[in-house]
Amino acid sequence: MTDIGIITGAAGGIGRATAERFARDGWDLVLVDVADSVKQVGAEVRKKSGRKVIGVSSDITRELGLPPIDTAIMELGGKLKFLGLTAGVLQKVGPIEHLDLHEWDRVLDINVRANLILMKHYIPALRAAGGGSIVTVSSWYGRSGHGLFSAYCASKAALIPSSSPQRRGANERPWPASPPESVRAAEIASPRALVS
Ligand SMILES: NC(=O)c1ccc[n+]([C@@H]2O[C@H](COP(=O)([O-])OP(=O)(O)OC[C@H]3O[C@@H](n4cnc5c(N)ncnc54)[C@H](O)[C@@H]3O)[C@@H](O)[C@H]2O)c1
Repeated sequence: MTDIGIITGAAGGIGRATAERFARDGWDLVLVDVADSVKQVGAEVRKKSGRKVIGVSSDITRELGLPPIDTAIMELGGKLKFLGLTAGVLQKVGPIEHLDLHEWDRVLDINVRANLILMKHYIPALRAAGGGSIVTVSSWYGRSGHGLFSAYCASKAALIPSSSPQRRGANERPWPASPPESVRAAEIASPRALVS
């Protein structure tokens, strides 16, 4: 049975690059993004790799966004072994005293809460498959902080401890994609969680 991965934010730069690398390495994939263009990305990655790849347009901040992803997994028919949570947004730049609370909520919803929704929903499937990996994408800003990016920094800081307690060093797999230089410098995928 083939290993299946879910990659969110797959219509974006890092998500797409990750999808291309995983497909090249023999994974079947469900690519998720709120942008409709993810369907085209799915078709292109499928054509290039010869793997089974489905693009699903879905807003992952809502639990209602999950059923279409579940349907795509069933269509692929393998074992879910990887959850790559790359979807994320920056914020409107500005100091805290000018930060609209709706903007704070929007950034935290996408960058943190959506990942929790996906982890909660898919950890049972990862366990049923005998274990798998969850990768979230943090940022150097999650450690350093920045006066004009308080919501973004808080959201990326939140990702650092959120997955760590489930880490299992023994079977940990390396992050397979080679990230762009700016991202490597900014620290990609800080918590690599392995669910067993
Ligand atoms: N690019 C960098 O230099 C850099 C540095 C550090 C961290 N990061 C993080 O890496 C991740 C990917 O960055 P990127 O540069 O590829 O960004 P990107 O904007 O190219 O891609 C992000 C994708 O997430 C999708 N998305 C946003 N909200 C969504 C939602 N509600 N549901 C589903 N999909 C949604 C967007 O449509 C977009 O396609 C982000 O979490 C970002 O914060 C990026």
